[in-house]
Formats: sequence, C-alpha cells, structure tokens
Amino acid sequence: METDQKNELKMISSYEDYHTKYEQSVKDPESFWSEIANTFVWHQKWDKVLAYDWEIPTTKWFTNAKLNITENCLDRHLEFRADQTAIIWEPNDPSQPSKKYTYRELHAKVCQFANVLKNKGIQKGDRVCIYMPMVVELTVAMLACARIGAVHSIVFAGFSSEALATRINDSSCKMLITADGAYRGTKNIPLKNIVDEALKRCPIIESTIILKNTAQDIHWVPGRDSWWHLESMDVSNYCEAEIMDAEDPLFILYTSGSTGKPKGMVHTIAGYMVYTSFSFLNVFQYQQGDIYWCTADIGWITGHSYIVYGPLAVGATSVIFEGIPNYPGYDRFWQVCEKHQVSHFYTAPTAIRALKKHPSSLVEKYDLSCLKVLGTVGEPINVEAWQWYNDIVGNNNCPIVDTWWQTETGGIMISSLAGVTPQKSTFATLPLPGIQPTLLTPKGTELSEKEAEGILAIKFPWPGMARTIYGDHNRYKKVYFSAYPGYYFPGDGALRDIDGNYRITGRVDDVIIVSGHNLGTAPIENAINQHPLVVESALVSYPHEIKGNALYAYVITYDKDEKEENLHKEIKEIVSRLVGPIAKPDKIQIVTGLPKTRSGKIMRRILRKIANNDIASIGDTSTLLNPDVVNDIIKNKK
Ligand code: PRX
Repeated sequence: METDQKNELKMISSYEDYHTKYEQSVKDPESFWSEIANTFVWHQKWDKVLAYDWEIPTTKWFTNAKLNITENCLDRHLEFRADQTAIIWEPNDPSQPSKKYTYRELHAKVCQFANVLKNKGIQKGDRVCIYMPMVVELTVAMLACARIGAVHSIVFAGFSSEALATRINDSSCKMLITADGAYRGTKNIPLKNIVDEALKRCPIIESTIILKNTAQDIHWVPGRDSWWHLESMDVSNYCEAEIMDAEDPLFILYTSGSTGKPKGMVHTIAGYMVYTSFSFLNVFQYQQGDIYWCTADIGWITGHSYIVYGPLAVGATSVIFEGIPNYPGYDRFWQVCEKHQVSHFYTAPTAIRALKKHPSSLVEKYDLSCLKVLGTVGEPINVEAWQWYNDIVGNNNCPIVDTWWQTETGGIMISSLAGVTPQKSTFATLPLPGIQPTLLTPKGTELSEKEAEGILAIKFPWPGMARTIYGDHNRYKKVYFSAYPGYYFPGDGALRDIDGNYRITGRVDDVIIVSGHNLGTAPIENAINQHPLVVESALVSYPHEIKGNALYAYVITYDKDEKEENLHKEIKEIVSRLVGPIAKPDKIQIVTGLPKTRSGKIMRRILRKIANNDIASIGDTSTLLNPDVVNDIIKNKK
C-alpha cells in the first residue's frame, strides 16, 4: 500500500488561491487532479489521469490505478486519529442516548460485517441492495460492501415496496440488507413488511440480513432471512481489503428520469473518492476538530457523498440523525446543533422554509455560537428563506454555501467556498476548480457574454461524474450527451451575472423537484393511470411556499359516477403505494381532455400556466388539436 501521510489534501484558503487553482485546473487538468489524487492511499498509481471521448461517451479517471476506498476512509486514519470520533449518531427520540463511534470502532465494525457478507456468499462485483433507517449500521453496511468490492445500491427507506422491487430487479441484487422497522417522528415504519411485499417480485434475491432496530414482530422467511446480530457473532473484525480497479463500480444510486423507469447511476471508485473529498474539504472549509452535520438521508446522493464518503475520506467527524426536523418539536435541529456543538450544518431549502414558519425564539433559545458554516442543497433557495437562515440561524456570522449538483455529478459542482469566495444570496455562485460550466441557447450555441441566461451545460469531465446508467449505456448517452453534443447536459436552466456567478433557475425537462426530491412526471402519471376509472393524466408543478414545488394532476376519467373526493383519495393512495408518499399529487382536477399538439404531445406548458393561475400568458391555442379543452379546464379549476 503506497501511503504518504504527510501529504494531506490541501485546502484552497483565499480568493486568489481559488483563481490560481481554477486556472490550473482548466489549463492542465491532469496535473491538477493528480496532485490531489496523490494525497490518497493507493496499491498502485495510475498510468493515465484522464481518458475520455464524449461521443461514445466514455470517461475514465486514473486508469489502471488500484485501491480500496475503505482504506482511505478508515485504515489510513488508524495511525493518526484512531480515537477521534468518526460518527456521532443522534436518535429519533431525544430521550434516548446518542452514540459516538471512533475511527477504530467504525473500522472494526465494517471489517466484521464485510466478513459476514463474505460468509453469506457475496463476492466482488455482486450487487447488494440496502434498505435501512438512518442508523450507523447503514454506513457499516455500505462500507462493508466497498471493503469486499461488492456494489451497494441503497434505496431510500421511505420508498414503497413497488419502488424497492423495481430497483432490486433493475440491478439484479443478490442480497438485501434491511431492518425490522424504522423510527420516524411518532411513526414506526414496518420496513420488513415492505421488504416482504417487494421480494415477492424479486426471485433473484438469495438472502436478506435484518438489523434488529425497533424489535417489532416480523414475518420470517426461513432459508432467506437472517439476523444481523446472529450472523455477526464470533465473526472476526479483521478483513483484508479487496484490491479494486480505479474504474470498478462503487455503487448504484437511482434517480428519477423525465420518462420511464428510474436511472441507476453508476459511480466508480477512485474518481468519486477524489472528487467528494476535494469538494467536501474546500466547500465547507472543514478543519480538524469541527463537527459537521448534513441532515440528508443516506439514501440520497447527498448522504452518500457528504455524510459518508467525503467526510470519512478526510477524517472528519460526521453526524448521522435518525429523526425528522419537527419531532418532538420544530426546534429539534437547533437542539441537536447545540447538543453536539455542530460547526457545519448542511440542509435543504424545504426544511429551512418549513422551520421559518415557526417563531424564531425556537432557534434563539439555543446557543448556536458553535456554528461556523451553513449550507443548502437540492433546489433553489428563495431570498426570504436565505435571509432567515443567514440572520436567525447563522446570526449573520456564518458563510452560506448554496451547493448546486446532482446524483449524476457525484459531488458539488457550483458553490462558494465558505468564507473564501464571495457568496451572493440565491446564487450557487462560482464553479469549483475542475468544473467548466457554460450556458447554451436552446439550439446549442454557447452564450459568450458574461451576463446571460440559458441552458446549463458542462464542457469538460470531472472525476466524480457517473459513468453510465446501470444496464443502459444508450440511455446515459441519450439523456446526458445527446441534447448538446460535446457537453454534459444536467437538465437545468441557469443565469450568470457580470461576475460569472451562476443562479440555477430550475429544471428544463419533465423532472419536478418537490421538497428537494427529484420526481419524474412519467412514473407518477403511470401510477395514476393504474386507477380503473382513469383514462389519462398529466402532471405539472406549481409553486409552493414550503415545498418549493407542489404537484398538480389533471386526470381524464371514464364516465362513471364515483364521488370525486373518493377518486382523489384513491388516486393519492395508488401513487403513494406505487411510487411513494412524497409523490402524492397536492391537487387533482378531473378534466374532459388534455391540450395536445397535432402530433399528440401533451402541452404541459399550458397546463403549468393554468396550475400557476397565469392564464394571461397562455397565448395562442388555436394550433392545438383540441383548443376548446383549455377553456374548459380553466372554467372548472377550483
Ligand atoms: O435541479 C437541480 C436541483 O436538484 C437537481 C438534482 O437532484 P438530485 O439528483 O436529487 O440531487 C439533489 C442533491 C444534490 C438538480 O438538477 N438542485 C440541486 N442543488 C441545487 C438545485 N437547484 C438549485 N440550487 C441548488 N443548490
């Protein structure tokens, strides 16, 4: 193992330094990234830093290098910070004790569970699905997979059995790791029941490992099910790390597409490790001794990159929170910040908007002088929410990093570096070194002037980018590299100010971001269409004070006289069951038809305007196949 502990990842510490590094990263990307990569532990260094061709498309970083990411996240810290806390776990119920795990303890747990996985027949390259609550064992399970070269596919534990089954089957997972139940506020979610339902449709799953978490009764399938604690008994906590290739897959994580089934984004080991560590350290300006808390669920990319891999790779102390922001009260976040002396707090604008509705005394009753840096992620933040976050939570004393990125990008792409580069409310601001964004016209011409608004695109590869969609490289090409050949197309619109700061204006495709969750319209419409009385449906978004966007469903039904309110309830139930509770439409309007072009395409632009009460700007509808339908919909809108 080649290691150079003196060679720690260096932080960009001034605005001048940022500019120098940015220029270097554009002029000579290979030397820029190899300098950073050299601070990690490798079994063998690379032959070539970057090889890519976006026509195919293919991107490879650190060709032929060999490593194991867990040696970088765990083993290498044992020499210098074995007794430092790696993870602070805060339970759902504040009357229960929180727990701390040192790097030494986490290392031992990961190695032991890696041996459990091996004993159950899991080998390098096998896919393992993880469907778990926010407990430390979730992190242990994912790192144990990485230790032995298995590919984890974590499914957010709020997803339905249907959504879970689809994801298990898509990547043909051999094993599922779950828990008996999950605590969420006052609720006790029967995870194992949901799993049992899902696995009826997943013959490929050979075994499950179940963590005893809530100790509720569960149904047991002999020969398939086993308990985490029993399987771990008398198992050694020594486990040699599997030597992996830089471009071997580390994990698959599903994200919604604008059409069809979810996309299993594949992230590979070395590039992802280098990029998440580099971006974590620089965006948050994390210093040893700081306590960092990202409130996301590990089931989303934010949790993968900025609760687990990024922070652990640089030896940080990261908080894992099992609960929700409003249990037992709307002051829970601030109580946890004070309790654990959190210095870095990273959350979603939706949470900020929801908490802002409550008296600021709920924040002010805690001593939050420990806070140094605040962050947001997942959706645009409005000025009012930004101001409240800055004034009330940050006491006007903490830089705020508004971080733009995606499941596909692996790590933060555009953001200020806390206290180092200028911030501007509602702007994600400047690209990180190594990231080359641009704005395009709809026809694909680059907008050369500084101040401009257009379609956001990325011109050059970065190490953290997803390499493919599991089992469907053509779709990867079509979605990200075909709209504007030569560019990566993230699906967002943006504007740029005179100083080069970017502000993300929202999606330019059929993905809707609700409470920071990325939802494709197609799977929700498909679910609505499952109702026996539904002929067709169309889903659009409208602005919502807390959630950012809410969902408005237009539904054509067969002429049966079922009570409308029953129908609404049933439709919401179906969506909740097939997609998940977060995807339930907020408003449903039964209509006689949907506005369509002559080629049969639903005119969502018009439906969006109606949902937004923006009737005046609908414009000419005479070219539609069925112009009358528009007036009908407007007349009957409630
Ligand atoms: O539309 C952008 C929005 O979230 C999308 C990515 O969603 P997902 O893959 O679920 O990842 C979310 C967490 C990284 C983006 O295409 N988005 C993300 N961050 C921001 C944002 N929109 C505006 N400002 C942001 N800071």
